[in-house]
Amino acid sequence: MRSETLRALEPNEYLVRNHVIAMDPALVSRMRNESNYAEPVAVGEVMHAYTVGEVIESNCPAIPVGQMRVARFGMQEYTIASESLGGFPVDTERAPASWYLGVLGTTGATAWLSFKEICDPKPGETVLISSAGSSVGTVVAQLALRAKCSVVGIVSTPEKAAQVQSAWGVKQVLSYRDKSIDELSKELAQACPDGVDVYYDNTSGDISEAVLDHYNAGARIAVVGRMALSHLADTRLDVGRRDNNMILSRRIRKQGFVLSDHLASMPEAVNALAGLIQAGSINVQEDILEGIENAPAAFFRMLNGENQGKQLVRLVS
Ligand SMILES: NC(=O)c1ccc[n+]([C@@H]2O[C@H](COP(=O)([O-])OP(=O)(O)OC[C@H]3O[C@@H](n4cnc5c(N)ncnc54)[C@H](OP(=O)(O)O)[C@@H]3O)[C@@H](O)[C@H]2O)c1
Repeated sequence: MRSETLRALEPNEYLVRNHVIAMDPALVSRMRNESNYAEPVAVGEVMHAYTVGEVIESNCPAIPVGQMRVARFGMQEYTIASESLGGFPVDTERAPASWYLGVLGTTGATAWLSFKEICDPKPGETVLISSAGSSVGTVVAQLALRAKCSVVGIVSTPEKAAQVQSAWGVKQVLSYRDKSIDELSKELAQACPDGVDVYYDNTSGDISEAVLDHYNAGARIAVVGRMALSHLADTRLDVGRRDNNMILSRRIRKQGFVLSDHLASMPEAVNALAGLIQAGSINVQEDILEGIENAPAAFFRMLNGENQGKQLVRLVS
């Protein structure tokens, strides 16, 4: 934690008071000094994070005082930003500010766009979701149920599995913690007796290796996250069974997804999700700690899988 006095704004800068910070799993990969789709955080730099904040001073005509904005303002109470930071205004009359960091923000849009673009779900198919209790996973589960698919989830513990079953209506949820790849694979065989048609992969690593023998011909795999690699200082240490034999023989399509490639489609996703929430088809669950001093605790809470819903830190009530 570091305190400093805010300096005066320069031309084309604005000052934001951050209201809510998102504890996104993607921040783990920003702490590795390796090639990724986003720049790593330099030592001594403010930790990256998306926040929603209010513009309280502005030298940017396009970003007026009073506007609520979402952007990568960082894990801090106030941010001096310039127009080049990007981000966009949000309507906090339409939905609470925090939703723009979850279901109406990056996680909801990731779920909606990747599921539509890669998974191509058909009624009766089996959709398997790792990290099924995550913000992304719960939206995918609800979209898959709406598409009349049979949904199976994987989460860390039996307790979390029970929560996901009762909160999100997913009938079959397995736990992976303290299980070998073979043990999880055997449980998957039982939970998916008709095989797996779509694997929505939020974790990669051992959990995904356990799915290898269960794909049906023509299965689709959306690779969206790498939570199971969080403990590795270097992702090249993630070694396991190769999957080409299965991909070829079962004509599987495996595709990575990064939301920043799809920013132009975000309004479409957010509007669709807002409609589904209004219609009662999507539930929103958030897990909020108060105060900037609780940001590290909130981050570890998410890494330990203790979060029930999107993990956030609120700075302004
Ligand atoms: N590609 C993109 O553009 C994009 C955009 C947004 C999010 N994502 C990815 O989507 C996934 C879900 O994100 P989110 O924001 O929805 O997550 P979230 O709600 O913050 O939940 C994160 C969950 O990850 C699981 N987890 C933590 N450590 C793990 C480990 N070592 N192995 C396996 N699982 C672990 C925990 O669930 P358990 O208790 O079940 O383990 C935790 O609750 C993440 O992988 C994230 O990076 C990708």
